[in-house]
Amino acid sequence: MTVLVTGATGTVGSRVVAALTAADEPYRVAARDTARARESIDADSAVSFDFEKPETWGDALDAVDRLFLVRPPQLSRVGAITDFVDAAERVGVDHVVVLSVLGAEKNPLLPHRRIERHVEGTGLEWTFVRASFFMQNFLEEHREEVRDGVLFVPAGDGTTSFVDARDVAAVAAAALTEPDHGERAYDVTGPEALTYDEVAAVFSDVLDRPVTYANPSLPRFAWETYRRGTSLGKTLVMSGIYTTARFGLAGRVADDVRTVLGRDPIDFRTFVDDHASDFAVERSPTRSHPRN
Ligand SMILES: NC(=O)c1ccc[n+]([C@@H]2O[C@H](COP(=O)([O-])OP(=O)(O)OC[C@H]3O[C@@H](n4cnc5c(N)ncnc54)[C@H](OP(=O)(O)O)[C@@H]3O)[C@@H](O)[C@H]2O)c1
Repeated sequence: MTVLVTGATGTVGSRVVAALTAADEPYRVAARDTARARESIDADSAVSFDFEKPETWGDALDAVDRLFLVRPPQLSRVGAITDFVDAAERVGVDHVVVLSVLGAEKNPLLPHRRIERHVEGTGLEWTFVRASFFMQNFLEEHREEVRDGVLFVPAGDGTTSFVDARDVAAVAAAALTEPDHGERAYDVTGPEALTYDEVAAVFSDVLDRPVTYANPSLPRFAWETYRRGTSLGKTLVMSGIYTTARFGLAGRVADDVRTVLGRDPIDFRTFVDDHASDFAVERSPTRSHPRN
């Protein structure tokens, strides 16, 4: 049984590859740049693939039984992904695991829900992994803020049920390799919902230096983020995501990690502890005094 992993160089896909490797399950990585993919993740096999280039789909899907489907955030056209799902069904893939977002079922306009609905209408077996906000966003989007000691997101006092991408990947890998995950949607969250003040307190405690939460207004966040060089589109997407938290819609804690994996989800303190060196402040080397 071979799994095709899309988004394999990304936050979750790379961890799905690691989980499949550890479990000795056969897989193939689908990547736009196979050489870069082999370099960045420790993948056994990689094939050239682009959702926007149907001519790459045949080789990628050759002899594949199961599919891990990631919607790249930068790909706005849902049709490219749903056409690929149809191609997968035509060549005999039998199960697709879709990386989706927590609460997708309540928002029919969300691209992830549109993909889910398309998948439900095929003959494929499916599992939806509806993930909460990744803890790893602090390693990517907000690493410099943590290093500088000020978190700058417009989430107000709303809580978020942050999830470690390692748990998201572990649930996806289980759905890809174990029986009885068909026609199920899992809500994949961390064990608790935290405000950004609480997040800042965990960073301060574990890193042993002050990290605070600036709690900017939405317009101030949008203006500053755009001014710092983020594209308008990404600024708007980020504003929307943090507004969800601000309105108290991102804090739902679910039990599905425990149900699928038989263990508790990773908590935020453990995440920060595991990545403390990534958040370390680079100190300039001490200048030695010239000797006379
Ligand atoms: N961030 C969060 O907190 C969060 C929470 C829940 C759900 N999600 C959802 O998770 C998904 C993103 O997953 P992620 O964060 O693991 O990914 P990611 O780190 O954003 O990486 C995106 C991946 O998509 C690939 N890609 C980009 N354009 C492509 C194309 N045209 N054809 C094929 N592959 C392409 C990239 O590969 P190359 O660049 O190497 O080609 C990369 O592997 C999104 O749908 C997002 O909404 C995110």
